[in-house]
Amino acid sequence: MPTSSTPPVQRIGVPRETFPAEKRVATVPDVVEKLVRLGFTVAIESGAGEAANFSDDAYRAAGAEVIEGAAALWAASDIVFKVRPPSPEEVGLMREGGTLIGFIWPVQNPELMQRLADKLTTVLAIDCLPRTLSRAQKMDALTSMAGVSGYRAVIEAASAFGRYFNGQITAAGKVPPAKVFVAGAGVAGLAAIGTAASLGAIVRANDTRAEVADQIKSLGGEFVKVDYEEEGSGGGGYAKVMSEGFQQAQRQMYAQQAKEVDIIITTALIPGKPAPKLITAEMVRSMKAGSVIVDMAAEQGGNCELTVPGEAVVRHGVTIIGYTDLASRLAKQSSTLYATNLLRLAEELCKAKDGLAVVNMEDDAIRGLTVIKDGALTWPAPPLKPATTPAPAPKPAVPVAETKSRHGNGSGTPLPAGTLAILFAVAAVAFWFIGAYAPAAFLGHFTVFVLTCFIGYMVVWNVTPALHTPLMSVTNAISSIIAIGALVQIASPEAGAIGRPEELIRWLAFAGLVLTAVNMFGGFAVTRRMLAMFRK
Ligand code: NAI
Repeated sequence: MPTSSTPPVQRIGVPRETFPAEKRVATVPDVVEKLVRLGFTVAIESGAGEAANFSDDAYRAAGAEVIEGAAALWAASDIVFKVRPPSPEEVGLMREGGTLIGFIWPVQNPELMQRLADKLTTVLAIDCLPRTLSRAQKMDALTSMAGVSGYRAVIEAASAFGRYFNGQITAAGKVPPAKVFVAGAGVAGLAAIGTAASLGAIVRANDTRAEVADQIKSLGGEFVKVDYEEEGSGGGGYAKVMSEGFQQAQRQMYAQQAKEVDIIITTALIPGKPAPKLITAEMVRSMKAGSVIVDMAAEQGGNCELTVPGEAVVRHGVTIIGYTDLASRLAKQSSTLYATNLLRLAEELCKAKDGLAVVNMEDDAIRGLTVIKDGALTWPAPPLKPATTPAPAPKPAVPVAETKSRHGNGSGTPLPAGTLAILFAVAAVAFWFIGAYAPAAFLGHFTVFVLTCFIGYMVVWNVTPALHTPLMSVTNAISSIIAIGALVQIASPEAGAIGRPEELIRWLAFAGLVLTAVNMFGGFAVTRRMLAMFRK
């Protein structure tokens, strides 16, 4: 029973989104149940989830109160969960001193920030979350929305494209697979690559950050390199503006791709800068009739010169899609992911599970996304303390340097040429010594052994690190050559009667055969399971 000094639990309110054509909703019935378990009460505006296929009844069944009308909902809510930044009218409806959680984009919306501060509110902008904190990833709504959007971009392209994505051989003839080129392999680009590859298309992709090449490959794409050595990482996982020389080489490569591929999906973005123009009108003209471009960066000015933000247009026979609401076009999925991101945030705010949110400004993640605290502007947050920021791994200037370092001393530093020469000289002397004194048969076996070690080393070294564990299990299975030795021993005509030493050897060989069978079949089974994790 709460005493008079115990503050009442807070109510989380979820209004219907008012931005034109926005279909997402900030919480979903499954998440309502979990918010209630944190001690909060939850209210939802009638019809808020309709466009995302969540009925009022589903919210009621999950424990939410359904309130008619935006004014009543805002007035009744201590904390408001929203997707889009609130309109001036919505700010007007907000309770003085209330809390707002949602996308705010403080750089683009200084007036909104001032209005919210004037109402003495506390505002947690989900777009300001420090994404490099691994602890914060469960709340990273930018990533979840970009993932949905990348997927949807491919679906939009497939719907505008007049052919199959996968190659087919039918009685009526052979259909070649569609070729898709993805420019920019951030979250959205990688989701697009995975989706297009899973539909059967041939997927190529380019990014200025060389470190994404492995991720592109692991999703079934091919990394297309720009023929110009320059590191594209600008820190924090984001890109930087490239030199004029690089841009020129990149334009040449993109012009070539435009002629070859059927679909281009562009996602290239540098935070705080207009989107780089990568696809010129000339490149569009060079594409095959019926090709499709989806320009995901349309809202930031577009990666294609001919993009019209928010619209799909046809230019030179090519459909150019510049929709800026891709996540909203998959409203049920994006709402569910967004609601889960906000639930994780609510858990951080209400660790005591007593229905009271505490905005702890000592917590790096919470500090980062708190842009207004009780009416005081707290944005931008100070840079993260070095201890909590994962240091970016030092990157070699060019991939060639990386290859060399991998063949070095294991610590990433290549062995100096002098040390290598000494090692070779010592090995040669040792070999001569063995050759001079050991029996001839031994030398033969020893040479095979040394060569096997060398070849094995070179083969394993060139396997992608992500595949090392499945490789280990398969070599485990193959290395069960012991089975052959055991079989030879069992079948040996010299094995005699019970009690003779040969009979003991036969039993030992049998035990060895059983054990190595476990090793072999187990190794292959483990490998299959591990490789299945990499397959789509
Ligand atoms: P991100 O910042 O994770 O990825 C952008 C990628 O572009 C980075 O990998 C970067 O290295 C690369 N890049 C930058 N300059 C480049 C250049 N000149 N050439 C090649 N690659 C370059 O961003 P995220 O989250 O993946 O979003 C990508 C884009 O999609 C953004 O413009 C974002 O606003 C947009 N977006 C659009 C939506 C829509 O509905 N249209 C929804 C979600 C995201």
